[in-house]
Amino acid sequence: MKLNIAVLSGDGIGPEVTKEAIKTLKAIAQEFDHTFNFKSASVGAIAIDETGEPLPDATLDLCKHSDAVLFGAIGDPKYDNNPNAKVRPEQGLLKLRKELGLYANIRPVKAYDMLLSQSPLKEENIKGTDISIYRELTGGIYFGEKQLSEDGNIASDLCEYSREEIERITHLAFKAAQTRQKKVTLVDKANVLETSRLWRNVVKQVAEDYPDVVLDFLFVDNAAMQLILNPKQFDVILTENMFGDIISDEASVIGGSIGLLASASVGDKHAMFEPIHGSYPQATGKGIANPIASILSAAMLLDHFELHEEAEMVREAVEKSLQLEITTPDLNSKNNTITTSKVGDFIEDFINNPKDSNLN
Ligand code: IPM
Ligand code: MN
Repeated sequence: MKLNIAVLSGDGIGPEVTKEAIKTLKAIAQEFDHTFNFKSASVGAIAIDETGEPLPDATLDLCKHSDAVLFGAIGDPKYDNNPNAKVRPEQGLLKLRKELGLYANIRPVKAYDMLLSQSPLKEENIKGTDISIYRELTGGIYFGEKQLSEDGNIASDLCEYSREEIERITHLAFKAAQTRQKKVTLVDKANVLETSRLWRNVVKQVAEDYPDVVLDFLFVDNAAMQLILNPKQFDVILTENMFGDIISDEASVIGGSIGLLASASVGDKHAMFEPIHGSYPQATGKGIANPIASILSAAMLLDHFELHEEAEMVREAVEKSLQLEITTPDLNSKNNTITTSKVGDFIEDFINNPKDSNLN
């Protein structure tokens, strides 16, 4: 298969981890005889420094004309400490999601057996957890009208959803559930919010098309607690934009490190693959950033193009690296010498020599 992949590695540790994902994809291309072409473009704080824009037109254009986008991370402390900055790196990511129509953000959360002790949660509570979060990504409060009164004392962000916006991601979530444990949990705040009541009604109607899937509902406050108390009860979690942002960071605690969580953002025409973690500026250039989230995002890219055997090989390589503790310091307090690129080298090696990687 031939794929043109736009690479937007972004800020902070973004370039370091994305490099390892590209290494992985190149190894796969070689092993399975695919042609993956990579073209880079700037986004985020780096793009603001270069062009004044967090998402330059040339970058958006490249993404629109590519088969997929591989995204690194975005954000810089100089903006975090200045909430009044007119131009912010995050605007680049939000615009990209909107312009590419990436309405569904899929975030798998898994408790790997070999990492159970890394989580602050009790092993017996998390063992076996396997959740797929379907977060709506182009609507809700993130994209509603924003207002600040002239005197600067009153602000508002509008949370708005249409039936159509809810329906399209709901279909994806139910289709995913059909291939998994056949359960969808809608996380909302329908006891308070009108948008949540619309979500419930629309999701209930869509569910009628999927009689083999069980649908249940949880208020987001309760869901936040249940995720920690008993995450194994969940299969597919479906939720709106901001709730999904919050509970997916929370859920990352189950896996032992946010450095492991990958995501796919998909729409009808485009798809983008990115770790859920941020730009981790304190770690930039130190070789300590965990590349696994980025590498597993590359695996999701392969799955998206139905290259399942290839994706499976990447995941196998990742599991092997975890088993052998070829891991960065966030997961490996005993051996701090394993760098970002060493993890990527191991994965590359495993893919190129699947049989003798045990020797490493
Ligand atoms: C994420 C991030 C983004 C979000 C930020 C960087 C705008 O936290 O992808 O989860 O809030 O969606
Ligand atoms: Mn987030």
